[in-house]
Amino acid sequence: MLKRKNIPFLILFLSVIFTFYSYNKSENPSININPNEKSLKEALKGKFHIGTTLNAWQIMGRRPEEMEIVKKHFNSIVSENIMKSERIQPEQGEFDFSLADKFVEFGEANNMHIHGHTLIWHSQTPDWFFVDQNGNPVSKEVLIERMKDHIQAVVGRYKGRIHSWDVVNEAIEDDGSYRDSKFYKIIGEDFIKLAFEFAHKADPDARLYYNDYSMSNPRKRNGVVNMVKNLHKEGVPIHGIGMQGHIGLGNPDIHEFENSLEAYGKLGEVMITELDLSVLPSPWGDAGAEISDNYQYEDKMNPFPDALPEEVQQQFTKRYLAFFELFLKHQDNISRVALWGINDGNSWKNNWPVRGRTDYPLLFDRNNKAKPVVKEIIELASRK
Ligand code: GLA
Repeated sequence: MLKRKNIPFLILFLSVIFTFYSYNKSENPSININPNEKSLKEALKGKFHIGTTLNAWQIMGRRPEEMEIVKKHFNSIVSENIMKSERIQPEQGEFDFSLADKFVEFGEANNMHIHGHTLIWHSQTPDWFFVDQNGNPVSKEVLIERMKDHIQAVVGRYKGRIHSWDVVNEAIEDDGSYRDSKFYKIIGEDFIKLAFEFAHKADPDARLYYNDYSMSNPRKRNGVVNMVKNLHKEGVPIHGIGMQGHIGLGNPDIHEFENSLEAYGKLGEVMITELDLSVLPSPWGDAGAEISDNYQYEDKMNPFPDALPEEVQQQFTKRYLAFFELFLKHQDNISRVALWGINDGNSWKNNWPVRGRTDYPLLFDRNNKAKPVVKEIIELASRK
C-alpha cells in the first residue's frame, strides 16, 4: 500500500523517469533515412570526396540521427573543434586524444577519408603555447620546439590513419600580406615551412594543406599563390590548398572563386574545406570568416527566425547548385568538398558574426530532412 509519506518520493521517482525518457527521446529521434534514395557520395563517386565536419556531441554518439546522415551521404569527415590545439593539448605535454580517437575510429569503421583540422592556427591555440613560466613571450627556438612537439604528437598518433591535414590555417591577410600572428611575430614566415616539414616527418604519406578563408579575393589569392610557390621552390612538402567555403547569397563573386580554383589548381590539389551558405545579411557585406569579428544582435539582422521563405529557399538552391556546378567543372583539381556541419542547427553561422540568429546554411534542415537542393546536386552530379 502506498503510504502518504512516500508520495513525495514517488513523485520524485516518476519525474526522474520522465526526464530520462524525454531526454533520450530527444537525443534519439526516429531515424528516417530512405535506403532506396541515391546519396550524395554515390552521385559524386570518382569525382571528389564529399565530407562533413563532426562536432563533439556527434562524436560522443549523442546525435544518432545526424550520424545516419553522415553514413548515408558522406565519405569524408573532419572534426570541427576537437583537434584544435586548445582542445587536444590544453596544457603543455598534456594531450587529450579521447574524442579524436573516437572520431578516427568512426571514420575507419565506415571506410571514410579522414581529414585532420588543424595543427597551427592563430586562434583556438592555448595561451601557454606562446609564453614562459613568467608569462613572458617565448623565444623563437622555444616556439619552434613547441610546434614540433605538438605536430609530432598529433600527426604521429594518427600516422597512416588520418589521410590529410590542414597544417597551417589562416596565415595570410585579405590584402595578401602575412598575418601578424604570434607564430609570425616570434618565428617569422618560416613557421609555415617548419610546420609542413614537421608534419611530413611525422607522417610522410599524409597529404598536407594550407587552409584559409576569403580565398577568392584577388589580393589574397596573389599572396597565397606566391607563398605556396616559394615553399615549393624550397622543396617544402605542401600538397594542396584548402579554400574555406563560407559563402553568402551575394558574396563572393563566383567568377573570382573560379579564378582562384584555377590558380590554386595549378599548384596542387584543391579542397573546398568549410562549405556553408549563409542566407542572412552580413554586417560588413562580405562573406569572409575573420573569427574575431563579432557584432551586436539586432532584429533586422535576423530576418527569418521561424522559417525560410520559399523565395529565399529557391535563391539558396540556385546558389548552391552554381557552386557545385563549378566544383564538378574543376573536379580534376578538387579532391574533397566538405560541408561545415550536418544540419542547420549545428552551424556556427547561427552565432557568428552576430550571436543568436537563425541561419539555414547547410544541406539538411533542423529536423535532419534533406533540403530540395540535395536531390538537385545528386541529379547534377549524375549528369557530369
Ligand atoms: C574557421 C576555422 C574553423 C572554424 C570556423 C568557424 O574557418 O578554420 O575551424 O573555427 O572558422 O567555425
